[in-house]
Amino acid sequence: MTRKFLGDRLLVATHNKGKLNEIAEILAPFGVNIVGAGDMDLPEPDETEDTFVGNARIKAHAAAKATGLPALSDDSGICIDALNGAPGVYTADWAETPNGRDFMMAMTRANGEITALGPDAPRTAQFRCTLVIAWPDGHDEVFEGVMPGSLVWPIRGEHGFGYDPMFQPDGYDVTCAELDPVEKNKISHRGRAVAAFLAGCFG
Ligand code: IMP
Repeated sequence: MTRKFLGDRLLVATHNKGKLNEIAEILAPFGVNIVGAGDMDLPEPDETEDTFVGNARIKAHAAAKATGLPALSDDSGICIDALNGAPGVYTADWAETPNGRDFMMAMTRANGEITALGPDAPRTAQFRCTLVIAWPDGHDEVFEGVMPGSLVWPIRGEHGFGYDPMFQPDGYDVTCAELDPVEKNKISHRGRAVAAFLAGCFG
């Protein structure tokens, strides 16, 4: 039996503004008071696991323990079929530079690695999102969402964040960065995971 969320304050344990904005927008109609990790000055724990759920658990439990609030974390990334699922849990690492994250560099690498495999390499990929809600007593619940699509080049669009400008969801002829943010939330990996969280913990 899934534990229900009965409080009125939910800590969203992410320092990523793109993730925080999307989660806050989807939860807005449910009257939950969202607190961001940045507002609480929470440290970012090392993501030492090699699965989305492992890393999401680390972030949610660390935040719940530090604040005494139920904490929702998001671990997500893009899995490229031609690259055997890479970058996967290392999606953010591909953007890492000494001066912060550079997603143009990360997208150029993704396109370059597929192109190097030849013209027949599939350009299919999935965005994956695992959400974990952890309570201060150590209980947690896990929810997942997937958005299948393919990678385009050159990149297109100004909305969203991360790899959105190169990702075209199945059934669409626009990238996630060309979609209106509300439309993206309806079909995205994160939107689907938040819907499962709402059904499980609020239903
Ligand atoms: P992590 O979950 O903090 O390890 O980082 C996941 C990374 O995946 C983010 O920094 C983004 O680059 C990428 N990512 C996750 N979700 C999305 C999305 O909805 N659009 C674009 N990129 C995403």
